[in-house]
Amino acid sequence: MPGAPLWLEVGFGGGEHALDQIAAHPEVAYIASEVFENGLCSLLSRLVAEGEEATGALPRNLRLWPRDARHLLAALPDAALDRLFLLFPDPWPKARHAKRRFVHPALLPLVARALRPGGEWRIASDDPTYQLWVEEVMAGAADFALLSRNTARPPGWPGTRYEAKALREGRTPIYWVFARR
Ligand SMILES: C[S@@+](CC[C@H](N)C(=O)[O-])C[C@H]1O[C@@H](n2cnc3c(N)ncnc32)[C@H](O)[C@@H]1O
Repeated sequence: MPGAPLWLEVGFGGGEHALDQIAAHPEVAYIASEVFENGLCSLLSRLVAEGEEATGALPRNLRLWPRDARHLLAALPDAALDRLFLLFPDPWPKARHAKRRFVHPALLPLVARALRPGGEWRIASDDPTYQLWVEEVMAGAADFALLSRNTARPPGWPGTRYEAKALREGRTPIYWVFARR
């Protein structure tokens, strides 16, 4: 899809958000990344109706990156992305594991390079430690401006399995939208 806006989702889990987005935005080229094999199987199985035979063909606007999204971010040309989604990332709540968090000062230059000026980075988290962490890290991120912060999922933002679990268990997610300056 040459010339199409390019969106990337990091860690799509069961694939609910990615599949809703590609259906709602056929004009967008969407790359969905996930390192967990069960997640890949879950997304692929949703593409094949019960009783139907798999053809192996993906929807025309979807590509899968079955590896670490950071490697793809590093390989993309400058300003290639129009939108980046990071929904309910693994929180790594122990301080000694903080370096594994996707939102991290060391990773921000990688995201800033790949996202075009004005492009959006959408982040959601239900984990109180990660929520504070996002606010702290992003407050010091000169390349990004906060566009919105909500405790209810904004319109046009499909839900995920992980979000449903958080709500069932009484946690309040935060949904941020940052713009690349
Ligand atoms: C807590 S789950 C949330 C899944 C999904 N976004 C949701 O909201 O239901 C986080 C997911 O991110 C994946 N993940 C973590 N780091 C990743 C990375 N660097 N690249 C791609 N996927 C990653 C994990 O395998 C896991 O499935």
